[in-house]
Amino acid sequence: MKFFVCVALLAVVPAVFGVNNWSYHTQETWPLISGSQCNGNSQSPININSSIATTTDLGSFVLDGYTDENTNMDLVNNGNKIVIQFHDDVEDLYKLSGGGLPTTYTATHIHFHWGSMNSGGSEHQIDSTPYPAELHVAHYDKSKYADLTAAVTSMQWDAATILGAFIEVGEHNTAFDPFLSHISQIANYSSGVTSLGQGNLPSFPIRSVLPSDLSKFYRYNGSKAVPDCNEAIIWTIFTDTISISQAQLDIFRTVYGEHADAQGNYEVVDNYRYLQPLNGRTVYYSRPTPESTDGGAVTISPMRALFIVALTICMLFNRF
Ligand SMILES: *[C@@H]1O[C@H](CO)[C@@H](O)[C@H](O)[C@H]1NC(C)=O
Ligand SMILES: *[C@@H]1O[C@H](CO)[C@@H](O)[C@H](O)[C@H]1NC(C)=O
Ligand SMILES: *[C@@H]1O[C@H](CO)[C@@H](O)[C@H](O)[C@H]1NC(C)=O
Ligand SMILES: *[C@@H]1O[C@H](CO)[C@@H](O)[C@H](O)[C@H]1NC(C)=O
Ligand SMILES: [Zn+2]
Repeated sequence: MKFFVCVALLAVVPAVFGVNNWSYHTQETWPLISGSQCNGNSQSPININSSIATTTDLGSFVLDGYTDENTNMDLVNNGNKIVIQFHDDVEDLYKLSGGGLPTTYTATHIHFHWGSMNSGGSEHQIDSTPYPAELHVAHYDKSKYADLTAAVTSMQWDAATILGAFIEVGEHNTAFDPFLSHISQIANYSSGVTSLGQGNLPSFPIRSVLPSDLSKFYRYNGSKAVPDCNEAIIWTIFTDTISISQAQLDIFRTVYGEHADAQGNYEVVDNYRYLQPLNGRTVYYSRPTPESTDGGAVTISPMRALFIVALTICMLFNRF
């Protein structure tokens, strides 16, 4: 009897407290949140099995404005992640298209997932192998929706798109310093100081924190990976990774969040969702075919063609 009351309470509590009360420590209860899609069929993250991905060429991405100065950036501790907010409503800088995307998307923020140990922390896995951390750049279709929330709650499969990249431990990455150097100011969620304030994060080119090679990636239809888990995200996971130093990764681990784990610890670590079933979805692996790469195909300039013709004539004259 006690057991059934307990189960009933488990179902009722999240429904009553709503979606803003979820935590990574209690993700088993997410599917019980009323109105959520967390028990849907096209959820994220997934394990990408490279041997069964469909190889294709979706074309290259076009990133417009990703190196521009943005004077409205903010750095936020939202209680479970570190978020770089672009405040794209002020300036209309970042436009993403190509890469097989059905339309042009506007970037709105970057957030990170990381582990307590280097053996895990990423949301996605490749061939059952996780990475120490994962970066997500969230985008939405600004031509149709007022903001990312409106896009995601539309539950249209193409309303929003996320560029994801794995973070490995290696060389120090200076591109991360402009925001890592400010994390100490917002590291304690319960102190009440949870953001620098709009415009207080010095501008940096967001392209520089992405992997250098964006030409090879996995693609699948999935969901927002926190409640309400709306199935409205076209996912891209790059095969090229980002390297940061151990000291840089350790800065992420200094963050304190909103919810304690079972031991009463408020450290924000292992802030990733568990793997979700693929349920027959197609995962594409896109890489450039030789004809589509600039300089990959054998092309001859008119001057060089003329030179080759002239050389051939000279050689012929020489012979006779
Ligand atoms: C939701 O909030 C209540 C009351 O503050 C708390 O007891 C409960 O643990 C919270 N649930 C989660 C999932 O954090
Ligand atoms: C990937 O798929 C193949 C073929 O179905 C299977 O044999 C293999 O175990 C899978 N690997 C992983 C890591 O899931
Ligand atoms: C975070 O701030 C709260 C409230 O000011 C304080 O009680 C707590 O000790 C702080 N935690 C850390 C790790 O500094
Ligand atoms: C995603 O879903 C749409 C609509 O059903 C479909 O047209 C598209 O091919 C799917 N994309 C992938 C990568 O499976
Ligand atoms: Zn994410």
